[in-house]
Amino acid sequence: MILKDDKENHAKKIAKCIAEEIKLRQKFDQHLVLGLATGSTPISLYNELARLHVEEGLSFRDVFTFNLDEYCGLEDNHPKSYHDFMNVNLFNRIDIPRENIFIPSGQIEPLFERDYCEGYEQTIKDLGGIDVQILGIGRSGHIGFNEPGSSVDSITRKVKLHDITRTDASSDFGGFDNVPTHAITMGMKTILSANRIFFMAFGEAKQEITKRAFCEEITDDIPASHLQRHKKTTICTDFDIT
Ligand code: GLP
Repeated sequence: MILKDDKENHAKKIAKCIAEEIKLRQKFDQHLVLGLATGSTPISLYNELARLHVEEGLSFRDVFTFNLDEYCGLEDNHPKSYHDFMNVNLFNRIDIPRENIFIPSGQIEPLFERDYCEGYEQTIKDLGGIDVQILGIGRSGHIGFNEPGSSVDSITRKVKLHDITRTDASSDFGGFDNVPTHAITMGMKTILSANRIFFMAFGEAKQEITKRAFCEEITDDIPASHLQRHKKTTICTDFDIT
Protein backbone atom coordinates (compact mmCIF):
# COMPACT_ATOMS: atom_id res chain seq x y z
CA MET A 1 0.00 0.00 0.00
CA ILE A 2 1.34 3.45 -0.92
CA LEU A 3 0.25 6.47 1.11
CA LYS A 4 1.19 10.06 0.24
CA ASP A 5 0.92 12.65 3.00
CA ASP A 6 3.18 14.98 4.92
CA LYS A 7 5.70 13.68 7.41
CA GLU A 8 3.77 14.80 10.50
CA ASN A 9 0.52 13.17 9.39
CA HIS A 10 2.33 9.93 8.56
CA ALA A 11 3.92 10.03 12.01
CA LYS A 12 0.52 10.42 13.67
CA LYS A 13 -1.04 7.57 11.68
CA ILE A 14 1.83 5.14 12.27
CA ALA A 15 2.01 6.02 15.97
CA LYS A 16 -1.75 5.47 16.29
CA CYS A 17 -1.42 2.08 14.68
CA ILE A 18 1.45 1.12 17.01
CA ALA A 19 -0.48 2.40 20.04
CA GLU A 20 -3.51 0.30 19.09
CA GLU A 21 -1.34 -2.81 18.73
CA ILE A 22 0.30 -2.17 22.11
CA LYS A 23 -3.07 -1.72 23.85
CA LEU A 24 -4.61 -4.75 22.20
CA ARG A 25 -1.74 -6.94 23.38
CA GLN A 26 -1.76 -5.44 26.87
CA LYS A 27 -5.39 -6.55 27.21
CA PHE A 28 -4.27 -10.15 26.72
CA ASP A 29 -1.03 -9.81 28.73
CA GLN A 30 1.04 -10.09 25.57
CA HIS A 31 4.03 -8.08 24.45
CA LEU A 32 4.72 -6.23 21.20
CA VAL A 33 8.07 -6.39 19.40
CA LEU A 34 9.01 -3.22 17.54
CA GLY A 35 11.85 -2.95 15.01
CA LEU A 36 13.23 0.58 15.06
CA ALA A 37 15.23 2.77 12.68
CA THR A 38 17.45 5.80 13.17
CA GLY A 39 18.08 8.86 10.99
CA SER A 40 16.07 12.04 10.64
CA THR A 41 13.12 10.26 8.98
CA PRO A 42 11.52 8.58 12.04
CA ILE A 43 12.04 11.49 14.47
CA SER A 44 8.47 12.82 14.03
CA LEU A 45 7.17 9.33 14.75
CA TYR A 46 9.25 9.09 17.94
CA ASN A 47 8.00 12.54 18.99
CA GLU A 48 4.43 11.38 18.52
CA LEU A 49 4.99 8.12 20.44
CA ALA A 50 6.54 10.14 23.29
CA ARG A 51 3.55 12.50 23.21
CA LEU A 52 1.12 9.58 23.39
CA HIS A 53 3.00 8.37 26.47
CA VAL A 54 3.15 11.75 28.25
CA GLU A 55 -0.25 13.16 27.29
CA GLU A 56 -2.37 10.07 26.77
CA GLY A 57 -0.80 7.57 29.16
CA LEU A 58 0.32 5.04 26.53
CA SER A 59 2.61 2.62 28.36
CA PHE A 60 5.55 0.85 26.75
CA ARG A 61 6.15 -1.52 29.68
CA ASP A 62 5.17 -4.54 27.54
CA VAL A 63 7.11 -3.47 24.45
CA PHE A 64 10.43 -4.92 23.29
CA THR A 65 12.48 -3.04 20.72
CA PHE A 66 15.22 -4.12 18.32
CA ASN A 67 17.18 -1.48 16.46
CA LEU A 68 18.31 -2.09 12.92
CA ASP A 69 21.93 -1.13 13.23
CA GLU A 70 24.92 0.51 14.89
CA TYR A 71 28.26 1.87 13.69
CA CYS A 72 31.26 -0.30 14.54
CA GLY A 73 33.81 1.29 16.81
CA LEU A 74 31.49 3.69 18.62
CA GLU A 75 30.84 3.42 22.34
CA ASP A 76 27.18 3.40 23.35
CA ASN A 77 27.47 6.90 24.80
CA HIS A 78 29.19 8.39 21.72
CA PRO A 79 27.02 11.37 20.67
CA LYS A 80 26.75 10.01 17.12
CA SER A 81 26.01 6.43 18.11
CA TYR A 82 22.57 5.05 17.39
CA HIS A 83 22.35 4.10 21.08
CA ASP A 84 22.56 7.78 21.97
CA PHE A 85 20.16 8.74 19.17
CA MET A 86 17.53 6.31 20.43
CA ASN A 87 17.90 7.37 24.07
CA VAL A 88 17.53 11.04 23.22
CA ASN A 89 14.76 10.71 20.65
CA LEU A 90 12.65 7.98 22.24
CA PHE A 91 13.77 5.78 25.13
CA ASN A 92 14.44 8.54 27.69
CA ARG A 93 10.96 9.91 27.00
CA ILE A 94 8.88 6.76 27.52
CA ASP A 95 8.48 4.07 30.21
CA ILE A 96 10.04 1.14 28.35
CA PRO A 97 12.07 -1.07 30.72
CA ARG A 98 15.78 -0.79 29.87
CA GLU A 99 16.06 -4.58 29.68
CA ASN A 100 13.49 -4.62 26.84
CA ILE A 101 15.73 -2.50 24.57
CA PHE A 102 18.06 -4.20 22.09
CA ILE A 103 20.48 -2.27 19.86
CA PRO A 104 23.40 -3.98 18.12
CA SER A 105 26.65 -3.18 19.89
CA GLY A 106 29.34 -1.38 17.94
CA GLN A 107 31.95 -2.68 20.34
CA ILE A 108 32.19 -6.40 19.72
CA GLU A 109 35.65 -7.94 19.33
CA PRO A 110 36.05 -9.44 15.81
CA LEU A 111 36.44 -12.93 17.28
CA PHE A 112 33.00 -12.78 18.91
CA GLU A 113 31.10 -10.93 16.14
CA ARG A 114 29.53 -13.99 14.59
CA ASP A 115 28.23 -15.38 17.87
CA TYR A 116 27.03 -11.95 18.88
CA CYS A 117 25.04 -11.50 15.65
CA GLU A 118 23.55 -14.99 15.89
CA GLY A 119 22.56 -14.15 19.46
CA TYR A 120 20.79 -10.98 18.28
CA GLU A 121 18.80 -13.04 15.77
CA GLN A 122 17.96 -15.66 18.37
CA THR A 123 16.70 -13.06 20.85
CA ILE A 124 14.33 -11.71 18.19
CA LYS A 125 13.08 -15.24 17.50
CA ASP A 126 12.71 -16.06 21.20
CA LEU A 127 10.38 -13.07 21.56
CA GLY A 128 8.25 -14.30 18.66
CA GLY A 129 9.72 -12.17 15.83
CA ILE A 130 9.23 -8.53 14.93
CA ASP A 131 5.59 -7.44 14.91
CA VAL A 132 6.03 -3.94 13.50
CA GLN A 133 9.18 -2.73 11.72
CA ILE A 134 9.95 0.93 11.03
CA LEU A 135 12.21 1.59 8.04
CA GLY A 136 13.85 4.50 6.28
CA ILE A 137 16.03 4.29 3.18
CA GLY A 138 19.56 5.43 2.44
CA ARG A 139 20.46 6.97 -0.93
CA SER A 140 22.45 3.82 -1.71
CA GLY A 141 19.14 1.91 -1.56
CA HIS A 142 19.94 0.40 1.82
CA ILE A 143 17.49 -0.52 4.55
CA GLY A 144 19.13 -0.78 7.95
CA PHE A 145 22.71 -0.88 6.73
CA ASN A 146 22.05 -3.59 4.13
CA GLU A 147 24.04 -2.00 1.33
CA PRO A 148 23.78 -2.90 -2.39
CA GLY A 149 24.65 -6.57 -2.89
CA SER A 150 22.94 -7.71 0.32
CA SER A 151 21.03 -10.92 -0.32
CA VAL A 152 17.49 -11.62 0.87
CA ASP A 153 18.89 -14.44 2.99
CA SER A 154 21.27 -12.23 4.96
CA ILE A 155 20.92 -12.12 8.73
CA THR A 156 22.42 -9.82 11.37
CA ARG A 157 26.09 -9.29 10.52
CA LYS A 158 28.97 -6.86 10.16
CA VAL A 159 28.95 -4.91 6.87
CA LYS A 160 31.13 -2.40 5.05
CA LEU A 161 29.39 0.93 4.49
CA HIS A 162 28.86 2.27 0.95
CA ASP A 163 30.63 5.51 0.04
CA ILE A 164 27.25 7.23 -0.54
CA THR A 165 26.24 6.26 3.00
CA ARG A 166 29.50 7.58 4.46
CA THR A 167 29.17 10.77 2.40
CA ASP A 168 25.66 11.33 3.75
CA ALA A 169 26.92 10.82 7.31
CA SER A 170 29.98 13.09 6.88
CA SER A 171 28.36 16.19 8.33
CA ASP A 172 27.47 14.23 11.50
CA PHE A 173 31.07 13.13 11.95
CA GLY A 174 32.89 16.25 10.74
CA GLY A 175 34.14 14.78 7.46
CA PHE A 176 34.00 11.63 5.33
CA ASP A 177 37.19 10.14 6.81
CA ASN A 178 35.77 10.27 10.32
CA VAL A 179 32.68 8.23 9.42
CA PRO A 180 32.99 4.63 10.61
CA THR A 181 33.71 2.25 7.74
CA HIS A 182 31.67 -0.67 9.11
CA ALA A 183 28.45 -1.34 10.97
CA ILE A 184 26.44 -4.18 12.45
CA THR A 185 23.06 -4.45 10.76
CA MET A 186 20.01 -6.65 11.02
CA GLY A 187 19.86 -8.72 7.83
CA MET A 188 17.44 -8.57 4.94
CA LYS A 189 15.88 -11.85 6.05
CA THR A 190 15.42 -10.52 9.57
CA ILE A 191 13.72 -7.37 8.30
CA LEU A 192 11.56 -9.13 5.71
CA SER A 193 10.35 -11.57 8.38
CA ALA A 194 8.60 -8.72 10.21
CA ASN A 195 4.85 -9.13 10.29
CA ARG A 196 4.15 -5.52 9.34
CA ILE A 197 6.47 -2.86 7.91
CA PHE A 198 6.11 0.91 7.73
CA PHE A 199 8.59 2.24 5.17
CA MET A 200 9.11 6.01 5.31
CA ALA A 201 10.84 8.32 2.82
CA PHE A 202 10.46 12.09 2.77
CA GLY A 203 11.92 14.92 0.75
CA GLU A 204 13.50 15.31 -2.64
CA ALA A 205 16.74 13.54 -1.74
CA LYS A 206 14.84 10.26 -1.25
CA GLN A 207 12.56 10.49 -4.27
CA GLU A 208 14.73 8.91 -6.94
CA ILE A 209 15.96 5.95 -4.91
CA THR A 210 12.45 5.28 -3.55
CA LYS A 211 11.02 5.21 -7.08
CA ARG A 212 13.77 2.84 -8.18
CA ALA A 213 13.08 0.60 -5.19
CA PHE A 214 9.35 0.31 -5.77
CA CYS A 215 8.76 0.95 -9.48
CA GLU A 216 11.62 -1.00 -11.02
CA GLU A 217 12.78 -4.61 -10.87
CA ILE A 218 13.61 -6.33 -7.59
CA THR A 219 17.37 -6.56 -7.26
CA ASP A 220 20.04 -7.02 -4.57
CA ASP A 221 21.61 -3.84 -6.01
CA ILE A 222 18.77 -1.92 -4.37
CA PRO A 223 18.06 -3.88 -1.20
CA ALA A 224 14.90 -1.84 -0.47
CA SER A 225 13.38 -3.23 -3.70
CA HIS A 226 12.87 -6.57 -1.92
CA LEU A 227 10.11 -4.88 0.09
CA GLN A 228 7.97 -5.20 -3.06
CA ARG A 229 7.52 -8.87 -2.13
CA HIS A 230 6.62 -8.20 1.50
CA LYS A 231 2.90 -8.80 2.08
CA LYS A 232 2.23 -6.07 4.61
CA THR A 233 4.42 -3.07 3.83
CA THR A 234 2.95 0.42 3.90
CA ILE A 235 5.01 2.90 1.88
CA CYS A 236 4.71 6.34 3.48
CA THR A 237 6.06 9.22 1.38
CA ASP A 238 5.44 12.90 0.77
CA PHE A 239 5.97 12.52 -3.00
CA ASP A 240 4.43 10.50 -5.82
CA ILE A 241 6.26 7.32 -6.71
CA THR A 242 4.11 6.00 -9.52
C1 GLP B 1 21.11 5.41 8.16
C2 GLP B 1 20.37 4.25 8.82
C3 GLP B 1 19.14 3.87 8.04
C4 GLP B 1 18.32 5.09 7.69
C5 GLP B 1 19.17 6.04 6.87
C6 GLP B 1 18.44 7.25 6.40
O1 GLP B 1 21.86 5.00 7.09
N1 GLP B 1 21.20 3.12 8.97
O2 GLP B 1 18.39 2.94 8.79
O3 GLP B 1 17.18 4.72 6.99
O4 GLP B 1 20.26 6.42 7.70
O5 GLP B 1 18.64 8.36 7.23
P1 GLP B 1 17.77 9.66 7.17
O6 GLP B 1 16.43 9.30 7.70
O7 GLP B 1 18.48 10.63 8.09
O8 GLP B 1 17.74 10.11 5.79
